[in-house]
Amino acid sequence: MIFMDNAAGSLPKAPGVGRAMLDFINKGSGNIARGGYDLAYSAAKQVLEVRIALADFLGVDDPRRMVFTPGTTWSLNMAILGLVRPGEKVVATSMEHNAAARPLKSLEKQGVSVAYAPCDKEGCTDIAALDRLLTPEVRCLVMTMASNVCGSLQPVKEAGRLCRKRGIFFIVDAAQTAGMVPIDMGKSGIDALAFSGHKALMGPQGIGGLALSEAIGKELSPLITGGTGSRSDSLHMPGFFPDKLEPGTLNLPGIMGLGVAVDFVRQNFDEIQARHRRQCKLMAELLGDIPGARLIGPKGGRGRAAIFSLDFEGQDNGRAAYILEKEYGILTRCGLHCAPLAHEALGTAPQGTVRFSPGFFTTFEEIEKTAQAVRAVAGRVGHE
Ligand SMILES: Cc1ncc(COP(=O)(O)O)c(C=O)c1O
Repeated sequence: MIFMDNAAGSLPKAPGVGRAMLDFINKGSGNIARGGYDLAYSAAKQVLEVRIALADFLGVDDPRRMVFTPGTTWSLNMAILGLVRPGEKVVATSMEHNAAARPLKSLEKQGVSVAYAPCDKEGCTDIAALDRLLTPEVRCLVMTMASNVCGSLQPVKEAGRLCRKRGIFFIVDAAQTAGMVPIDMGKSGIDALAFSGHKALMGPQGIGGLALSEAIGKELSPLITGGTGSRSDSLHMPGFFPDKLEPGTLNLPGIMGLGVAVDFVRQNFDEIQARHRRQCKLMAELLGDIPGARLIGPKGGRGRAAIFSLDFEGQDNGRAAYILEKEYGILTRCGLHCAPLAHEALGTAPQGTVRFSPGFFTTFEEIEKTAQAVRAVAGRVGHE
């Protein structure tokens, strides 16, 4: 099997992730802030260590504002719906995943105006157009860091500067970049950074985070309220972090697994980045000019994440993906990738594309085999 769907979730996970989760469950799993005994304190200490490691890795100035969530979707909903009020204006990009586009659509129904900045034909947001849309009354900009459809990296630093200058909150979807490209929230002017643990961070599914600046942290209303094990005398959520946005029992086994994954990524980050650059270059070279398989988005290996989308011209993309799996053992993802806006912008709606996303453990030989299989499948058109 050649696993080319790391954008949906990395496979394999970082070494030791499964073991850490199992050990936590089997060898004693106290619940944090819910018990006055050592088992609970030990779990709390471990969770704090993971919080600190993530905050350090992502450039969050205070680890208390590194809130655990089930993943990017929850984080984006918490940031967008917790911030924006009826009558306000929001700007987003045309590369957004439904994790952002759907909460924005629900806000539109409540009288919020949402404008989408266009992108160029390679899927990169037009910064001049964004500049014009970011008028001072805009409440926030929502931007994905890399398109999950075609891998295009977005101009996050420039956008962050524009937001800072105009007092606009900046919410960033790092689902496809956390663990793959360096992120410094503070330096990039990001107020809310949403990420998942199970993609490039190589951790388990169902755990991720929302990292917040102090300014946006004060403005956000909790979407979900409940017990926090703190200020239990009050019927209101505590105003301090992380409790303000962490009601209920956390996914502690997930946090233990994510902790091991983050340590692995941090220890190997130079190699991860170097490998990622080489993979992007090779994939762009090998998949870039296959007759009958049109590469969507950035044509080269630079300015992109290792996510490559092909449109098998004259064929059903779903069938091409099926043949790749059944005849060549190559696992891809086909369709609209939960990002219909991006496909519309890239001209690949409604048919979608077949997406190839290597991960840290993908070998160069696997990439070469994938390219050979794509060439064979693309060449079948009209011959059957
Ligand atoms: C760009 C982007 N945003 C958000 C998400 C949603 O992530 P999750 O399913 O972990 O909430 C994904 C997942 O594929 C994604 O690629």
